[in-house]
Amino acid sequence: MLIDPNTIGEGELSEEEEIYKENILDHFKHPRNTGVLEDCTIQHRELNPLCGDQIELFVCLDEQKTCRNVRFCGKGCAISQASVSMLTDAVKNKNVEELKSITREDILAMLGIPVGVVRMKCALLSLKTLHKGIEQWEKKHEQKTCH
Ligand code: FES
Repeated sequence: MLIDPNTIGEGELSEEEEIYKENILDHFKHPRNTGVLEDCTIQHRELNPLCGDQIELFVCLDEQKTCRNVRFCGKGCAISQASVSMLTDAVKNKNVEELKSITREDILAMLGIPVGVVRMKCALLSLKTLHKGIEQWEKKHEQKTCH
């Protein structure tokens, strides 16, 4: 997808928000932690049905359920891809309970620009992927420990 700077942020941006916008574009052009992890603990893919953009996330947890490694593959708009790139930086060395407690407000704070209703699904696709992935992993984990 082409980068259209006009689609980032709602209305006039303050000087501080312009810096955040540059940061978003930097993450979009040079995403951190991309790739695939074989044998990871959590692997999950989510799609934004409105546009077909998607994110696949790979998280390795250690025995203390702390994130030791993380990677993602994705395609989509600047907001969705910058958001997941920033999220992967933020989850390292956090335990699964901390990962579950990341909120939409945390994501919006990382992005740092006003995100309107239309762009909200883009901004939150990363968090949805992480949380759904954890949810599914916990279900499997519970099943395993039952036997
Ligand atoms: Fe598809 Fe943003 S336009 S996730």
